[in-house]
Amino acid sequence: MAQVVPAKECIDKAVELIKAGELVVFPTETVYGLGANAFDASAVAKIFEAKGRPQDNPLIVHIADLSQVRDVAREIPSTFYALAERFMPGPLTVILFKSDKIPSIVTAGGDTVGIRMPDNIYAREVIAGSFPLAAPSANKSKHISPTLAEHVREDLGDSVRLIMDDGPCRVGIESTVLDLTTDMPTILRPGAVTANMLAEVLGEVSEQGKIIRVAKSPGMKYAHYCPNAETVTAQSIDSAVRAYDEAASAGRRPVIVARDIYRDKIGDRDQISLGITADDYARRIYAALHTAEKSFDYIIVEELAGADIAPSVMNRVFKAAGGKRV
Ligand code: TXA
Ligand code: MG
Repeated sequence: MAQVVPAKECIDKAVELIKAGELVVFPTETVYGLGANAFDASAVAKIFEAKGRPQDNPLIVHIADLSQVRDVAREIPSTFYALAERFMPGPLTVILFKSDKIPSIVTAGGDTVGIRMPDNIYAREVIAGSFPLAAPSANKSKHISPTLAEHVREDLGDSVRLIMDDGPCRVGIESTVLDLTTDMPTILRPGAVTANMLAEVLGEVSEQGKIIRVAKSPGMKYAHYCPNAETVTAQSIDSAVRAYDEAASAGRRPVIVARDIYRDKIGDRDQISLGITADDYARRIYAALHTAEKSFDYIIVEELAGADIAPSVMNRVFKAAGGKRV
């Protein structure tokens, strides 16, 4: 019989169960999910068994942060990162081509995988502490989706050990499912992230055979502020160094644009300095990009965290990178 436990009190227990190949019910802002380690085919099989779900219906993989996307998907388009910047974490699932690490039981044998970053801190803590979670809604197949832990206990109480209770789900309907593997981004399931909201980022999106277009204000187009060389932002200096080394060994000419506080980690790799403080960064960034595009073909820019000027600077830098992050 399932234990129903306040979510913040059972993170460790949930991590332990997931690592042991068991199922855990976790809260999200849409509906409760029935999760298993997305990399473990036999753990995922237990989901289908518990729900009585037909194996031809694929599962969504839930991630804790953007660094996990590359474990789950391949050929990730820059539009994914543009969507992530605006809607993640949140009630949006994006379909991409799957990585080799995702077993075919997750995708019902298909080459694509749904990815979502839920806006529930306890869910993300469990994922960050264990693995990305393959999870459908935590109801018996064909029954109503659960928005309270009590709904899950009634439906699946006999087949799961732990239900993480975080009260009623804030959104209450399942996520929007958007397919990014087709030429035209296509909404497969509508949700709280609407076609218009998606069109504001993507320019156009198809929903039920209709194409929704939004005339973007010039400033919203990522094409502005773009250097003439491929540019990405780095979520940490470690990922900057990793991206640099990968590019260098592929025969490219990368450069890291970052402040001097990272000199030690950057070592003898090519760097263009952004000074020391956030104000230095703001003052120097455009000049650094001008210099970088003349001598290098892959520009990796430090992401600046914090308040004050940082968000405004990052607004420009994310545009320069077309939303691509490493
Ligand atoms: O809000 C949600 O999305 C919730 C929470 C738990 O995250 N999950 C959820 O999962 O609603 P589920 O399995 O009940 O619904 C997932 C939907 C199904 O209609 C499935 O066919 C579709 O997403 N789907 C999943 N992967 C897909 C893929 N690779 N291609 C096309 N459709 C996919
Ligand atoms: Mg469902």
